[in-house]
Amino acid sequence: MKKKLFSGIQPSGDVHLGNYLGAISNWVRLIDSYDCFFCIVDYHAITIDYKPESMQQRILNAAAANIGAGLDPDKCTIFVQSQVPEHTELAWILNSVISMGHLERMTQFKDKSMQNKGNINVGLFTYPVLQAADILLYKGEVVPVGEDQIQHIELAREIARKFNNKYGGTFPEPQEFLTEVPRIMGLDGKTKMSKSLNNYISLVESPDSIWKKLASAVTDENRKRRNDPGNPEICNIFTMHKGFSTQEQIEEIRSSCATAEIGCVDCKKMLHENMVRELTPIREKSNELIDDSDYLYGVLKRGAERCKDIAKETMGLVRENMGLSSLKDC
Ligand code: AMP
Ligand code: TRP
Repeated sequence: MKKKLFSGIQPSGDVHLGNYLGAISNWVRLIDSYDCFFCIVDYHAITIDYKPESMQQRILNAAAANIGAGLDPDKCTIFVQSQVPEHTELAWILNSVISMGHLERMTQFKDKSMQNKGNINVGLFTYPVLQAADILLYKGEVVPVGEDQIQHIELAREIARKFNNKYGGTFPEPQEFLTEVPRIMGLDGKTKMSKSLNNYISLVESPDSIWKKLASAVTDENRKRRNDPGNPEICNIFTMHKGFSTQEQIEEIRSSCATAEIGCVDCKKMLHENMVRELTPIREKSNELIDDSDYLYGVLKRGAERCKDIAKETMGLVRENMGLSSLKDC
């Protein structure tokens, strides 16, 4: 039996290169080695203000982009979180296992509270508990995510450990799994690439539009003139080369940037070429799928059906271990 792999993505806008290089590329890479569950986490996305009338389309966009990127629905389970009610049921139980203090330490909660001062809701605070429930419901052991999620996966481990100590061995302790480039900065080179900051390149953007964004993207700010040597290790363009270029090209850029043999414009052109080569089939496939919502809903329905069976079984075990089963059955 293959080990279980679980990961999630919020349907909160365009899927971008940070998502792709930090997480999705690993999902595609690992699809044959694990029993994979990929969840579009709409219950997480509602912790930030959003327009209800756009949610369905966002869910479909996320599904299309991920399938377009290589998540073959015949090889993995893709589903929407709110289709499987046990996610929130388990989250409630796990709320009683973990302390407020643990959640208060979460940097994403602090960051999001700063960004959304008018709506610091309780869901934003308990967000990582729902995330732990997502993973543990399927007894997920491997969780491929970007760097920003490491703290949440550590917390999921802590929750699993605490639950097992209190109620007996029930859950495995999940482990994060990172790519070579687990943190992609935005076009300003300073803040993390993210949907909410609008500093991103989308996974399905046209080659022209990608070039416009790359052309104005910030590089090593100490390199003011063409002949100044650059420091690739602090340049976001170099980080993206690590995701899209060959090993040889990466080594070549590393040395020729430091000696000013290559300029930023040529370096960006090379990145653009490699990016467009890799992303064009993803964009084409994704656009094709967006026009076929029946197919996408079919995939998501099939995914949810498989998940419901597993979720029911896990919740049965959880209730039994907690001494809740007899009450539930009467
Ligand atoms: P989200 O869009 O916040 O649901 O994130 C989905 C996945 O993409 C998670 O595993 C994140 O850690 C990852 N991710 C999001 N933004 C970035 C980024 N800028 N760099 C690397 N990984 C990211
Ligand atoms: N919180 C994650 C993010 O913002 C998304 C997510 C929800 C997730 N549940 C998960 C990721 C379970 C991994 C495992 O990116």
